[in-house]
Amino acid sequence: MSEKRKKFYITTPIYYVNDKPHIGHAYTTILVDVLARYHRFLGEEVFFLTGTDEHGAKVVMAAEKAGKNPKEFVSEISIKFRKLIKVLNIFNSNFIRTTDKKRHWPTVKKIWLKLKEKGDIYKKQYKGLYCVGCEAFITKKDLKDGKCISHQKEPEIIEEENYFFKLSKYAKKLERIIQKNEIKIIPQVRKNEVLNFIKQGLEDISFSRPRKDLKWAIPVPDDSSASIYVWTDALSNYISALGYAKNSDKFKKFWPADVHCVGKDILKFHSIIWPGMLLSLGLPLPKTIFAHGHITINGQKMSKSLGNVIDPFELVEKYGTDAVRYFLLREISPFEDGDFTHQKFEQRYNADLANGLGNLVARVITMAEKVKIQNSKFKITIQNSKLKKEIETTWRKYKKALNEFKFNEALITTWELISFCDRYIEKEKPWELLTNNKQQTTNNKQQEVISNLLYAISDIAEMLKPFLPETSERIFNQLKNQKSEILFPRF
Ligand code: MSP
Repeated sequence: MSEKRKKFYITTPIYYVNDKPHIGHAYTTILVDVLARYHRFLGEEVFFLTGTDEHGAKVVMAAEKAGKNPKEFVSEISIKFRKLIKVLNIFNSNFIRTTDKKRHWPTVKKIWLKLKEKGDIYKKQYKGLYCVGCEAFITKKDLKDGKCISHQKEPEIIEEENYFFKLSKYAKKLERIIQKNEIKIIPQVRKNEVLNFIKQGLEDISFSRPRKDLKWAIPVPDDSSASIYVWTDALSNYISALGYAKNSDKFKKFWPADVHCVGKDILKFHSIIWPGMLLSLGLPLPKTIFAHGHITINGQKMSKSLGNVIDPFELVEKYGTDAVRYFLLREISPFEDGDFTHQKFEQRYNADLANGLGNLVARVITMAEKVKIQNSKFKITIQNSKLKKEIETTWRKYKKALNEFKFNEALITTWELISFCDRYIEKEKPWELLTNNKQQTTNNKQQEVISNLLYAISDIAEMLKPFLPETSERIFNQLKNQKSEILFPRF
């Protein structure tokens, strides 16, 4: 009997539906897709969740601006996020919407009542600065020249009576948990940021807004004058989608999350508020929170007002899904901010995909096609010990990189193997052997070189599977049929 399969639960943030998806949303979802596919390849049972966050004040404002009612507006945009998933060849297990009254709302209500039962929810009058961009109350230290540093907008001064969550109660415990990597925050610099933030002192946080100001949100279960704060609602998605409200088998099987993948902008919500809620609920904590950097456009922050927002649909239309996946995964270092420009995109495309990978596959398959001896196909075997060792080393480096969320390094190491194969071809010059068909010894040598290369290419295709699933499949088909076709036409 086989052993029980390891489970792997991974999530993206749920995206606000105030606007159509951009390249930043595509980026996070692609990172998660790679990890999900990789863990499936390792034989684990993967649950990959993504979705949309539909109750924020920002969303209501956008609907008003578009002259639509919120319900109609959020549905239209949420569909675009699902379309993006298709276009990017994302293989998610589930898609959750916070407006889903059957799947999501019962969990949010259950959480609310449990937090209250625990004595962690209380009401108080509050005056503070609310930043709609953050969908959060912020403090003076979040401002520069009176504007929110992240959104460059003046916050509203709001005075209202809200329910508060006793986050301060959990401050010491949270600090210890993060310090000891019980929740592992990756990368280390982000972990330090979170710890420094906690050390400055955690205040209780507002968990509701007056219903009259936010009719669109989920109502507080036992108080019709209040709406549940959008982040309380949103963070709950990670367990609502598993059926926490009914204590379903899926919940029991997959919770806690193995990885919450988020952008650095929302790390605090995930590493402080969410674990605070889970501690209060008495639930296990997520194992890892991976916070990636942001994509800038020609060195600038991407924003509607700057008019530099990159539409992932347009990019895919022009270059194809795998080229977009490749650029984001290879060019952007996941722990830092990374820059997108069309020029960089085309450079990477031509150098790495059309030349590097495309060229190697074309050269080798074309040779196999030409040399087919007695019309039988080549065996895909390895007899060269140096090449064999190189492949094994590449696998080791590749796995290490992926286990450490270093997507770009996993690709760099794969491309080093491509270069190694190129050098092997240059050294052995199998095409020169093509003219010497009569000598049996030469034929044998020639067969061996081509078989070795086919073997290396099949490993390269295997390594590419989580990153470029379609390309990987096309390479496997070419290996099977031993018939060459162009993978990436040059731009
Ligand atoms: N709805 C909240 C998240 C709730 S999760 C319980 C939210 N939504 S968002 O639409 O603003 O998406 C934020 C996420 O999108 C970021 O954390 C990041 O993953 C991704 N990105 C948004 N802009 C980005 C870039 N410019 N670059 C890279 N990723 C970006 O916050």
